[in-house]
Amino acid sequence: MLIAEKLIAKAPPLKATLRNKEIGQVKVLLVGGGGREHALGWKIAQSPELSKLYLAPGSAGLNRLGEKLSFGDGELQAIAGFAAENAVDLVVVGPEAPLAAGLADLLAAKNVPCFGPSKAAAQLESSKSFMKDVASEAGAPTARFGRFTEIAPAKAFLRNETAPYVIKADGLAAGKGVVIAETLKDADAAVEDMLGGRFGAASAAIVIEEFMRGEEASFFAITDGETILPLIDAQDHKRAYDGDQGPNTGGMGAYSPAPVFTDKVRERTMKEIIEPVVAEMKKRGTPYTGVLYAGLMIENEQPRLVEFNARFGDPECQILMRRLKSDLLPVLYKAATGKLKGATLDWSDEAAALVVMAADGYPGAYKKGSEIKGVEAANALPGVVVFQAGVKEENGRLLANGGRVLNVTAMGKDIREAVERAYAGVEAIDWPEGFYRKDIGWRALERDA
Ligand code: AMP
Ligand code: GLY
Repeated sequence: MLIAEKLIAKAPPLKATLRNKEIGQVKVLLVGGGGREHALGWKIAQSPELSKLYLAPGSAGLNRLGEKLSFGDGELQAIAGFAAENAVDLVVVGPEAPLAAGLADLLAAKNVPCFGPSKAAAQLESSKSFMKDVASEAGAPTARFGRFTEIAPAKAFLRNETAPYVIKADGLAAGKGVVIAETLKDADAAVEDMLGGRFGAASAAIVIEEFMRGEEASFFAITDGETILPLIDAQDHKRAYDGDQGPNTGGMGAYSPAPVFTDKVRERTMKEIIEPVVAEMKKRGTPYTGVLYAGLMIENEQPRLVEFNARFGDPECQILMRRLKSDLLPVLYKAATGKLKGATLDWSDEAAALVVMAADGYPGAYKKGSEIKGVEAANALPGVVVFQAGVKEENGRLLANGGRVLNVTAMGKDIREAVERAYAGVEAIDWPEGFYRKDIGWRALERDA
């Protein structure tokens, strides 16, 4: 039996909390097909409220939990049309691209509740300069910055800053739009490259900002536009290789809780960043709904905003879902329908850790199609659940089908145990064409030592 099925069988009956529907009456359409969506689907599938889970486009792991549709996460009209025609009660959007393209707006026009912000509100992620304007109106602490569409004034601005220089494409560039340059020469080159069209429309404008020092952590909150339900914190490892070296990636591992995220940091993050920003979005007539992901730089217990994302983190979502004890589905529904007031979520006191197994070569060029064995064996180990990020199934065989391929998660009494168990899961997996970082959690473990 699959781990997810085991958990479904064990889930305690919950009170029906959605509209007047009976238990087991809710139809959900989940948009996206990566590791984050596998974890969301795994959690949603455990809800006694669920009657049907539709997947656009699904994945090898997700397809066992619901019904795969014939269209993908970029086919917004198809998603909205299907949801309306099939009386879907809730659309849950995993990735940012459909939100930035207006999926929530299309669904709103058809009266289908959507977990995820409107196009206007998703600009908190899709436009760095929009985020900076909102943060500044809201008084949220963040880096000083300038916005440029011409090379000469951008270079002039750089000359009043000191190294390292932070240069960002204004729009969405799949996590690759940030350059941190050690020298003025490299900074100039990045400005020319980006304004020269490196990321097309996404870098027609750039933002240059002050370099912030400290330790990074991520914090998440769910909101219906007014009421805010704080979730928990996590830390991820963005660099490809051990010691936080090598190229930037979408994230090679993560853990929660983040020791740097003390109660004081949490309080400040809510009061100084999340609450005023949610209020500012409402004031502008574009309330933010869904999950707000704040990327933070923390120094002396003062959080400063690095970025917002309009979605859950990937791979942070996977460990959040592992630590979440409550039923997620009612909360997603309440956030999507303006009824979040009074909602609560219970979290495990245990820690969670995640190790990404990636294809050799990632984040550069990599091969697809190599066979992966041992996922079932890993899933059978204590505390371990493997989520599939870039995998396809062919004749019962699992084949690598992406850069980040597997997310091996584990729970443990503390971060050390969670990390050890996650690595035991990794060891059980037989995939010679993959690699992984061997030092996930090192910052947290060093504090312990
Ligand atoms: P972003 O895509 O905005 O998350 O940036 C990617 C990474 O670059 C962040 O996770 C930080 O590690 C780093 N970064 C971005 N902006 C700054 C900044 N102003 N100061 C220091 N580091 C930054
Ligand atoms: N793990 C970083 C992100 O989801 O943006």
